[in-house]
Amino acid sequence: MTNKPIIGIIPTFNLTNEENNPYEDKASFVRMYSDKIKKSGGIPIGILENPEEYASICDGYVWPGGKKILKEYAFLLEDALKKNKPVLGICLGAQSIVTLLNILEDKEQEPSKSLEEIYEQNKKEKPYLKKLEEESGHRNFVTKEKESIDAARHKVHIQKDSLLYQIYKTEELNVVSLHSFTINRVPKTINVLATSEDGVIEAVSYKAPNSFILGVQWHPEIEEETTLFDALIFNAKKKYQTLVNKNHKLEEDYSIVKYNSEYDTSNPNMEYETSLAWEKFKNFTRKNGYYIDIESAYRSIEAQQEIWDSCVKEKGLSHTKRFVAAPGYSEHHTGLAIDICMKKDGVWLNEFHPDLTECYTFLKEHCSEFGFILRYPEGKEEITGYGYEPWHFRYIGNSALAKYLMEQNLTLEEYVEGNAYARNC
Ligand code: DAL
Ligand code: ZN
Repeated sequence: MTNKPIIGIIPTFNLTNEENNPYEDKASFVRMYSDKIKKSGGIPIGILENPEEYASICDGYVWPGGKKILKEYAFLLEDALKKNKPVLGICLGAQSIVTLLNILEDKEQEPSKSLEEIYEQNKKEKPYLKKLEEESGHRNFVTKEKESIDAARHKVHIQKDSLLYQIYKTEELNVVSLHSFTINRVPKTINVLATSEDGVIEAVSYKAPNSFILGVQWHPEIEEETTLFDALIFNAKKKYQTLVNKNHKLEEDYSIVKYNSEYDTSNPNMEYETSLAWEKFKNFTRKNGYYIDIESAYRSIEAQQEIWDSCVKEKGLSHTKRFVAAPGYSEHHTGLAIDICMKKDGVWLNEFHPDLTECYTFLKEHCSEFGFILRYPEGKEEITGYGYEPWHFRYIGNSALAKYLMEQNLTLEEYVEGNAYARNC
């Protein structure tokens, strides 16, 4: 089992197959995309058939440039929106993202129409994209030679303080441009991040806190450097390692449900992927004789305030500070943490019951198999800021990393704050 993010690449297809040759019916994956994902520390996989099944294993997506993308793959953008997975759309991929978000926007205006009907209508009228003139300076062709690549460059201006500016830390880039279409209608859900001198929209991102759904019209895969792919890989796992503690207040715009729409079926008690992992962890533990359940998972700031106030009243301020986070500073706000309780013979056990102690030992031994860590272990109070809490488990996104932390007896503080890449981004 690897802890590298798995990045699905959407295939592109031939525009025509005039001779109806079955051997020309090909899905293509350009190797520069997989090479860049590998160099940036991810595992590239090509998505063929059944995108729904691939969605269950992919941590993020590259939506590449090419001739044609089939509409079945739109499901993967919906998956990314729903589960806050990162997407890097390039050229045709960026245009596909904009098209789909336009279709979703139109559906809000005409709820009786299906997405399919809106898509077909768009295919005829093409209001979302516009074809560029041959001489526009955007429709170039390249070979592998540096001179050819450089001849296909033009400047783009990046909006200061945009997602792209945060990544590149510059307001101007000289990019390689090979696209025939430009964005004609910007949906409300999109931010424009960069434009060229002639006003063509060159980069867009989905408007949502903590989201990384980015589309660029240019071709980063042809460059030596890997900046955009590095950012994609980093975002594939970052949110599961979010550090919220006495020194790190929850970010103001943090939200566990990243996309409130008809697609969102996530458990309101938890972040979506956490809820899937929890179901498996719970069922496995119950099969082994421990009837566990959720004591507390997601908590609003107000709920945390109530817990804080009642603990101060019952046990005093110094005890409260050791076991309850101040409102705004609890990782329960993230939807990634669960306090676990156990029932025996129909009765919930109190915290000193020996059977509960035995259950906690079992949970500690097995939590990492499901991507959880014991967040406040014994002997780490100086680092975590909290006393031993055998009931509090935290989902961190993958079992390999969870196993590593549990085996090495490392807390999230030690991992995140000792991890140069996490710190720099
Ligand atoms: N019990 C943990 C520290 C919290 O209140 O978030
Ligand atoms: Zn807790």
